[in-house]
Amino acid sequence: MKIISAEFVKSSTNTEQCPPADRPEYAFIGRSNVGKSSLINGLVNRKNLAQTSQTPGKTQLINHYLINGNWNLVDLPGYGYAKVSKTKRVVFGDMIQDYITGRENLHALFVLIDSRLEPQAIDLDFMQFLGEQSIPFVMVFTKVDKLKNAQKTKFVAEYQEVMSQEWEELPEFFVTSATTGEGCEEILRYIHQINSHSVLFKK
Ligand code: GTP
Ligand code: MG
Repeated sequence: MKIISAEFVKSSTNTEQCPPADRPEYAFIGRSNVGKSSLINGLVNRKNLAQTSQTPGKTQLINHYLINGNWNLVDLPGYGYAKVSKTKRVVFGDMIQDYITGRENLHALFVLIDSRLEPQAIDLDFMQFLGEQSIPFVMVFTKVDKLKNAQKTKFVAEYQEVMSQEWEELPEFFVTSATTGEGCEEILRYIHQINSHSVLFKK
């Protein structure tokens, strides 16, 4: 799929404030600093559409981007960021939970996982929660430019091994780098395929 246009629509603090749910929508979630905003920029090939930062906790709202005039990409705040006050972390939790369980045009949730770390309980717990809520998701391993090819293969195999302890059928996964663009085409192809079957998708 070719990206012809990508524009920021709005930032929302809750699902009610979000733009009308009248187009296919795809959201990016994961721990703070995993690379959600960077990957969104990589997908649409714009440097600064979504704001990124070396400091965790950059994205704090639900950010909508309109792509090609007919589908939405959503950049969400990270989960599990310990350095914000307790109350703020709870608000993050509610905002995210409310959005992912209540947004009716959400066609798929992309759960981003840092490929440089061992499987983290917080990510596994989060995916468990998604499974229990029957929310469709796929996994996206990020920052693979930091790994050599052999390490990449090993990481994916180990992650799948851990997942298979809880999951009968493993979710689809993508191996990506916002830096090199690896995996971006595959994600766009995946989105395109879902769009083409969606009643909300108007050409
Ligand atoms: P929050 O908004 O704070 O939750 O973070 P985020 O998940 O949106 O992460 P963001 O895209 O802001 O990136 C965090 C840091 O990781 C930045 O310093 C990025 O430059 C770096 N980063 C993101 N993607 C990649 C990647 O593919 N490769 C490498 N090497 N660094 C990356
Ligand atoms: Mg961000």
